[in-house]
Amino acid sequence: MILNILKSRFSTAISNFTEDVSVYLDLIRPSHDIRFGDYQANIAMPLASKLSRNPREIASEIISQLQVDDICKSVEVAGAGFINLTLRESFLVEKLLNAAADSERMGIELVRNPKNFIVDYSGPNVAKPMHVGHLRSTVLGNAITNMLRFRGHNVITDNHLGDWGTQFGMIIFGYRNYLDVDSYCRQPVEELSRIYKLVRNKIDSGDQEISASVLEETAKLHDADPDNLKIWNEVMPFAMNEIDSIYKRIGIKFDYTLGESFYHPLLADIVNNLIERGIAKETNGAIGIFFEGNDTPMLIRKKDGAFLYGTTDIAAILYRIHQFKPDIILYLTDFRQSLHFEQLFKVSKLMGISGVEFSHIKFGTVLGEDGKPFKTRSGSTVGLNGLLDEAEKHALEIVKSNDRLELSEIEIHEIAKKIGIGCIIYADLSQNRESDYVFSYNKMLAMNGNTAAYMQYAYARVRSIFSKGNIDVNQFRENVKSGNFKAELKSDAECNLAKEILKFGDAIDLAIKDYRPNLLTTYLFELANKYSTFFEQCPVLRAENELIKNSRLLLCDLTASTLNKGLELLGIKTVERM
Ligand code: ARG
Repeated sequence: MILNILKSRFSTAISNFTEDVSVYLDLIRPSHDIRFGDYQANIAMPLASKLSRNPREIASEIISQLQVDDICKSVEVAGAGFINLTLRESFLVEKLLNAAADSERMGIELVRNPKNFIVDYSGPNVAKPMHVGHLRSTVLGNAITNMLRFRGHNVITDNHLGDWGTQFGMIIFGYRNYLDVDSYCRQPVEELSRIYKLVRNKIDSGDQEISASVLEETAKLHDADPDNLKIWNEVMPFAMNEIDSIYKRIGIKFDYTLGESFYHPLLADIVNNLIERGIAKETNGAIGIFFEGNDTPMLIRKKDGAFLYGTTDIAAILYRIHQFKPDIILYLTDFRQSLHFEQLFKVSKLMGISGVEFSHIKFGTVLGEDGKPFKTRSGSTVGLNGLLDEAEKHALEIVKSNDRLELSEIEIHEIAKKIGIGCIIYADLSQNRESDYVFSYNKMLAMNGNTAAYMQYAYARVRSIFSKGNIDVNQFRENVKSGNFKAELKSDAECNLAKEILKFGDAIDLAIKDYRPNLLTTYLFELANKYSTFFEQCPVLRAENELIKNSRLLLCDLTASTLNKGLELLGIKTVERM
């Protein structure tokens, strides 16, 4: 990765000026404007102010120490003391050949100090309809996991299912009082969803009696009442089937699915232990943990003896540390849980946990076209599956409208699935995760814009060059690897595309740094655009000679592999034709 190579060269060059090298190395970045070279090092200014010296002088001294002849054709001091670096074409060619020879990793190395991550994501509440917020957590968590793994980190994914909450009190109460046995036998998920909504509505409209009964059923379940446990055990597989069908459609797998119910046997002891250690105390009959300078405690046991969401999360921390020895635990939920996680992380400190980094990766709300939180269509259809159906239906129209391709009916449907699902995933990931965004099929399936459909089309278009030219890609790659392959870069369009291809690894690192997959989608979109410019200006199959043709084919193949890999990390499939 070019940025890393430059950093290591700079690290030697500035070691005479400072001990604190790494802070300064972060100030080396790709330039925003090619007039300032390809990379820019903004190191001299802060160094100069620390040493009370002239920044341009420091910049020249750094340059005189810097050994980058093999990489850069020019290194210049500009303005207040910026160092502008422009890469050599021969170096670009060498790096492209490296990337091509390593088709799995595109020449992107593994991190030297891999960390152990736990990524806690998705976490739908079983027996309630899964909503788009859970989809957002699922899609983000999966992309972050893939990127971390690709760079060589160890990641354990854990789906902290809400499988033990009050919604089961509602289901159990509804089961006893409103179940239509016939429809339950025919369509268990629909019937359970119906009784859940029925009870929920009664509670929401203020029915105190039902509210109390629901709490009672929940408490009985938590107390291992055999009848309530029996209903729980009966209902769980139906609900899980439904959730799993969604995971299957969007291609998600978890290493562990340790839901809230898993921790239940541990909770009583944990609360007692926290009381003994003086970390938790009684408040109005309940048990809570208080924090300095704040009156709202985190409740961990209610007056009626029931445990809470937070109690389970404390148990999960203890269990995970013991079992998996993580360095970092990431939690993906929307903003509304900010306070919960702030408190939870404080509790971990109070318990004396150190050496583990906790991070709440928050995200905004998915909105409907009316600007209000998005609701899947009401009625009996179960939310998210209907949503995915709809996206596939829209995608089918797109694929069918392109009749040049002469695809079989089966192929058309396969392709439409990949586009439809891909667009839902991409629409989510291409947003700044902290923003709310409007869910719109038209926007997410647009063929000209920052969408999965556009990226998938870009990929298919690049790949089609090989079939049009009757060139066997595998043979071409073998040829590249043989060592006798020659390539050169002449025009700006070729060089710019080459430089963009070679930024893939840096883009992944940037996206990982603050857990923002949208930085990877931005990169891929930019790559597709650079490719378009290249394609308009540089004939590939009709290039003027073999050397130029091969060089351009190399750029095409690497563009395709990068798009493919990038989309794969985001959890999106590509298609060869569309
Ligand atoms: N079930 C929770 C919800 O729907 C999300 C779980 C997130 N993970 C956690 N460890 N609390 O809001």
